[in-house]
Amino acid sequence: MAEFALKVRRYDPESGEAAYWEEFDVDLPPERSVLDGILKYKDEEDASLAIRCSCRAAICGSCGVKINGQSALACNTRISDAAEKAKDGAIVVEPMGNMPVLKDLIVDMDAVHWKKIQRVVPWLLPEGDPPEREYIVPAESMIDVTQSMACIQCGACVSACLSMEVDPDFIGPAALAKAYRFVGDPRDAHTEERLADLAEDPHGIYDCTHCFACIEVCPKGVDPMNQIMRLRRHATADHEIKDGNNGYGHEKAFVDIIEKWGTLHEAQVLPRSYGEGSMLKGQTDPKAVKQLAGSLSTVVHALRSGKVTPRKALLHHKLPDQDQVRRIYHEIESKDERLELNMYIVGEGDAGLGEDEGEQADKEPAMGETGADQ
Ligand code: SF4
Ligand code: SF4
Ligand code: FES
Repeated sequence: MAEFALKVRRYDPESGEAAYWEEFDVDLPPERSVLDGILKYKDEEDASLAIRCSCRAAICGSCGVKINGQSALACNTRISDAAEKAKDGAIVVEPMGNMPVLKDLIVDMDAVHWKKIQRVVPWLLPEGDPPEREYIVPAESMIDVTQSMACIQCGACVSACLSMEVDPDFIGPAALAKAYRFVGDPRDAHTEERLADLAEDPHGIYDCTHCFACIEVCPKGVDPMNQIMRLRRHATADHEIKDGNNGYGHEKAFVDIIEKWGTLHEAQVLPRSYGEGSMLKGQTDPKAVKQLAGSLSTVVHALRSGKVTPRKALLHHKLPDQDQVRRIYHEIESKDERLELNMYIVGEGDAGLGEDEGEQADKEPAMGETGADQ
């Protein structure tokens, strides 16, 4: 048994008072969870402290909070680990971010998380009349979506998403991971429409800034950012969806520039992006020229900061061993199939994983053990 100090953010809208911090100590065995600490205080000292929870076993996804600033499940965070990471001696527990607070540690999941899940049409849209019994598919064809199927809808990724902080309309990591669950499902007949919809939406797949925050906090290894990247690869490489957000052009610009020079030719990124990957189109197409003119402030900023100079814009040197970069391109392009690593697949699939990836796979349940098919 040890004593742990907790500092919990309290807020009761009915009181009319502003939010405040409450500090208290609890005695618990060190292997118990932060949720146990909060429930103990609630049971013994103050029943008005509000937190949402149910399974207490990292399954239901109810107890998402921020612990020492990091989004996490309270029931899945050992209280002694949290105490070690506490900066000022007390474990700081706050409601999740990017969602309005209803009371104390409870946020309004309907207002943000579930609204965004609804946005991506979270059900199967198969073609034709339904079969008499269930739709049957070979297990192997579902491997690609097992990782996104493991989501328990806790909202930790939504809470941590930096893009959503800047653009609250961003569809966000959990909903886009859910979208991939149906895009990757062989029974769904609307793959291209789904991808076009998510690519065209200014708050869709191209609104993610690759900050990795959602990957870091997800308690189930769903890796929402990787699901978003899969959606992008399907939209660009497989369906060639040329979206109004220039996501297709921007990606093609990066890929082509690195293939040609080995390092980023900053002066070519914008025209190529607006020209759907083509430098010529980016400099001659009226729509692209208009977009380029609209980005003048970005160009001026890049010139002022020295990121782009007239000399660099004209003379961009190739890497001395650029042939090695081209060999990587050639190697990838010569493959018949694109290899999508799925960390939920263990066993035979481990052969292609690196050491770290193999370790990650060992931590996660194998296919059929994911427990949640949502
Ligand atoms: S990687 Fe993308 S989706 Fe994930 S938290 Fe960052 S911005 Fe959000
Ligand atoms: S993707 Fe992970 S963090 Fe996000 S809601 Fe699902 S389980 Fe939670
Ligand atoms: S109480 Fe169910 S996930 Fe924490």
